[in-house]
Amino acid sequence: MTARKIFVTTALPYANGNFHIGHIMEYIQADTWVRYQRMQGAEVNFVGADDAHGAPIMIAAEKAGKTPQEFVAEIAAGRAQYLEGFHIAFDNWHSTDAPENHELARQIYLDLKANGLIETRTIEQFFDPEKNMFLPDRFIKGECPRCHAKDQYGDNCEVCSAVYAPTELIEPYSALSGAKPVLRSSEHFFFKLSDPRCVEFLQEWTQNGEHVQPEVAAKIREWFGTRTNPDGTTSEGLDDWDISRDAPYFGIEIPDAPGKYFYVWLDAPVGYLASLKNLLERRGEDYEAYMADPRLEQVHFIGKDIITFHTLFWPAMLKFSGRKTPTKICVHGFMTVNNGEKMSKSRGTGLDPLKYLSLGMDPEWLRYYLGAKLNGRNEDIDFNPEDFMARVNADLIGKYVNIASRAAGFIAKRFGGRLGEVGSDGQELLAALRGQSEAIAAAYEARDTARVARDVMLLCDRVNAYVDANRPWELARQEGMEERLHDVCTTCIEAFRLLTLYLKPMLPAVAAQVETFLQVPPLAFADAQSLLGAGHAIGAYQHLMQRVTAEQLDALFALPEPVVEKVLPGGEDIAPTITIDDFAKIDLRIARIVDCQAVQGSTKLLQLTLDAGEGRTRNVLSGIASMYQPEQLTGKLTVLVANLAPRKMKFGVSEGMVLAASHADEKAHPGIYVLEPFPGAQPGMRVR
Ligand code: MSP
Ligand code: ZN
Repeated sequence: MTARKIFVTTALPYANGNFHIGHIMEYIQADTWVRYQRMQGAEVNFVGADDAHGAPIMIAAEKAGKTPQEFVAEIAAGRAQYLEGFHIAFDNWHSTDAPENHELARQIYLDLKANGLIETRTIEQFFDPEKNMFLPDRFIKGECPRCHAKDQYGDNCEVCSAVYAPTELIEPYSALSGAKPVLRSSEHFFFKLSDPRCVEFLQEWTQNGEHVQPEVAAKIREWFGTRTNPDGTTSEGLDDWDISRDAPYFGIEIPDAPGKYFYVWLDAPVGYLASLKNLLERRGEDYEAYMADPRLEQVHFIGKDIITFHTLFWPAMLKFSGRKTPTKICVHGFMTVNNGEKMSKSRGTGLDPLKYLSLGMDPEWLRYYLGAKLNGRNEDIDFNPEDFMARVNADLIGKYVNIASRAAGFIAKRFGGRLGEVGSDGQELLAALRGQSEAIAAAYEARDTARVARDVMLLCDRVNAYVDANRPWELARQEGMEERLHDVCTTCIEAFRLLTLYLKPMLPAVAAQVETFLQVPPLAFADAQSLLGAGHAIGAYQHLMQRVTAEQLDALFALPEPVVEKVLPGGEDIAPTITIDDFAKIDLRIARIVDCQAVQGSTKLLQLTLDAGEGRTRNVLSGIASMYQPEQLTGKLTVLVANLAPRKMKFGVSEGMVLAASHADEKAHPGIYVLEPFPGAQPGMRVR
């Protein structure tokens, strides 16, 4: 049988933030599958890349005062520590802004165009007259047309969940500039998914049971049916897909259409091919020839939020540009932490992957734990600390690692490190273990690693029961039981090798240590059919894995230090919380400084005459002389604490206080800054 040849990808993460635990979960799932395939002899290329383009990244870069290229390069530089940290072995990590992607995306577009599937249409869209750009829905805000909640996004209301078009918002404004957007028309490019060729192809491709999971195929069927549009009208079948955006946009310019760019989702999946091409060319291999091999399988791992792009747009783009279509789209659910809500894509709350590593927690604990929860369907999974501790300590260490530690010492000390003959009960046990190899392989193939973990732990239970029944530690003390001791310990070591082989895709580093300990070449799946055999010498056993401690989990989920415990730039903690009623007790008023004089005999004080709209003026003494000359303040507006009890001071009575900012440690950080209201405020207005 010729080896399978597989090209595997994970979704390309937006390059506007570091990885969060949801990304890591996806990579662990894919990496485990890839390692399994390699153990079966498959030739695999496993690639990823940063999804660099789009309006949000362009805007985030601008806010950070960087070019988009600089911005995404900084994010890219942070990727390796996560991937290495969790033993995720991509063969290449590239970027959708790389030249290969520019070239491939344009070529695919031109091929689609030549095939009559690109159309231009003029559409009306909101335009920000200050920023001089068309606004993506997410950057238009306004009042919800249904429930009238303020400051809702252009596509849906977070208060009442209404879905609408941005043009329906009441009093819309640009979230970028605050300006009132105007409607402008612009020519857009569309991929004609409504073309009968596309519809027919996609019906077949998504529903023939070969490319997507059944639950995913069911979801897709809904999209082919009747849908209600934001404006209340209904549509049948598939809509054409708007694939262009106007400048300024961080993306790939559309050929022969100056100022028009591909919408980020057009070039993002092309990044899969670009990353592969980059890898092959660096190795001196031919990309076209590689892709042309009919044996090649193309497998994409993605989360359930991006199914449309991968099961409709992407296969159609490939098919109608005359390219190879994906073999499988493997969809996983979302990961939550502590029963938390779905983690925000951008914030990724809950479990910080780098914190996990920095606490010295073993990456393979997480690989095993997630593997033990993922079953190949797209259900959500939750990280629960108690459950995590039980799986790792009870299963992985208590059941699996334990087997080696129980037997290795005797083999080393009593038998010169050499294995012996296995008796009939041992043979039977090992045959039972070997007999599971096909079921375990099938579970890996189906990404049902939950099943793998369950099955392997049951096998561990059988081996441990064998150890308990034979009590090697007692055999070791009995006269004439030398041979039986050798047999029992050999059985354990042989069993341990098989169990390690089965767990290797999930636990690559542990498996590598075991291979060293057993003095065997890297374990492949076919090795499940053989044994080490009598006379094989093993190395010294070294502890394979620590237990998880409650302290580690506490530290992992400890909330960041509360703000009050940090030294703020102002040098003091935030004062204890007050209620709005407490605040209302302080009557703050806008006051005009009608006169300002130096105070004879004081270097600190200025004497202010304030008009707070009361039909009289107030005399206020304020310790701001170090900062201001009297003439600088005269005529200005400021804020007065108007209901402060009058205070008799050495230089007269002060009838209130003006607001000013300063550092807690005035000696170390001198400077006191009087507050001045924005223009338009009038003396006597209350500040609330
Ligand atoms: N840039 C697009 C993908 C383009 S693919 C050509 C994108 N990026 S993303 O960073 O938002 O998400 C990347 C992957 O992480 C997606 O598969 C997404 O489903 C997955 N996850 C994001 N949050 C997740 C969880 N909380 N749990 C599991 N996977 C999650 O979408
Ligand atoms: Zn609403």
